[in-house]
Amino acid sequence: MINSEKIREYFPSLGRVDANNNPIIYLDGPGGTQVPIQVIEGISQYYIRSNANTHGEFVTSKETDFMMDGVRERVSEMLGSEGPKTISIGQNMTTLNYSLARALSRKFNEGDEVIITELDHEANRGPWKVLEEVGVKLIEVKLLDNGTLDYTDFKNKINNKTVMVCMGMSSNALGTLNDFVDIGNYLKDKNCLFLLDAVHYAPHFSINVQELGCDFMLCSAYKFYGPHVSFLYSKPGLLDSLTTDRLVVQDQEAPYIIETGTLNHAACSGVASAIDFISSIGEGSSLREKLESAYKQISIHEFELAKHLYDSLQKEDKITIIGQDFSSTKRTPTVSFVHSDFSPQDVCKKLASENICAWDGHFYALKAIQKLGLEPAGGVTRLGVSLYNTKLEIDRVVEVIKNL
Ligand SMILES: Cc1ncc(COP(=O)(O)O)c(C=O)c1O
Repeated sequence: MINSEKIREYFPSLGRVDANNNPIIYLDGPGGTQVPIQVIEGISQYYIRSNANTHGEFVTSKETDFMMDGVRERVSEMLGSEGPKTISIGQNMTTLNYSLARALSRKFNEGDEVIITELDHEANRGPWKVLEEVGVKLIEVKLLDNGTLDYTDFKNKINNKTVMVCMGMSSNALGTLNDFVDIGNYLKDKNCLFLLDAVHYAPHFSINVQELGCDFMLCSAYKFYGPHVSFLYSKPGLLDSLTTDRLVVQDQEAPYIIETGTLNHAACSGVASAIDFISSIGEGSSLREKLESAYKQISIHEFELAKHLYDSLQKEDKITIIGQDFSSTKRTPTVSFVHSDFSPQDVCKKLASENICAWDGHFYALKAIQKLGLEPAGGVTRLGVSLYNTKLEIDRVVEVIKNL
């Protein structure tokens, strides 16, 4: 069981109040979570003690090398990967995905087909347009009105021209949890790469890339209590087979060959602390065991709160929830809705005036919001539950929405 009160003590930003003494309520986790003190210390200790570039002979540079190896090891444990050499580091998921797409554009051929989905964030759609420059066809899987992908359409679109499938594990706009296990199994006997966007999934559930059998996976630490830095998992051997944009002077092997320039070392130090922080919630004898145990607790806590939020909003006549209900735990704790009298932006303005942080719009999942016919009225209001949220907070948010 998550001890919310204890967890909250680690997050200094949760103590903020507004001019009316309203405590701040963060429900913007899908846009980025708050960070615990351990992460802040991880970043500042790096600057206080070890700030340097890598591969030097002096103490701070050696400490930086050690720390950078450590963050790859931790992300590898978190994703259940074959080892730290499968983890590349980048500025953000979008940039990493563009770099990967550019590299793959040198591998794929004219007439090849790559599958993307209408539900995905633009960061897992836009970069693949690079492939069109070399004659690759992008094929889009349909989104259904209920906020799930059309899996009949999905499987029908996979054929012997398909060289890659790129899908999200869950939707940052609607909270849909996609059938990526089923798609992964379907692809097993096919000669086709499989990429998963874990950005909205990684804060809520544990991951095992080897079990999933994916070739690539991307995630961003700022969504799981860390700083703004992102990671690309590549199956052993894969990245080495690609021609990436890289300098002749840099390391010419995975995982480094897709990393350009000097990385954000301080942020990486913060990511190591974020993963240690998550693991400290769980129990076990290894980092992996602790992470798995922590994620079990996190997902139960978040689901209960999000279900309570969903059930409370569902009772309101003026509210229409967009996407899946909470009758099954196959759901992320992200609840999106529209109000019959107020635009999503106005709802968020009102929430903001009560010191409640929530986003409105399409959240870069533009195609999904367009497909659902929600774009002209300003998209949806999105409330995302995170580890540190409480039932009291949810009740207060519901009260404000009820009294709009
Ligand atoms: C599901 C999903 N994919 C990709 C991204 C892009 O991540 P980044 O900001 O690290 O480029 C986001 C960001 O919100 C997201 O929610």
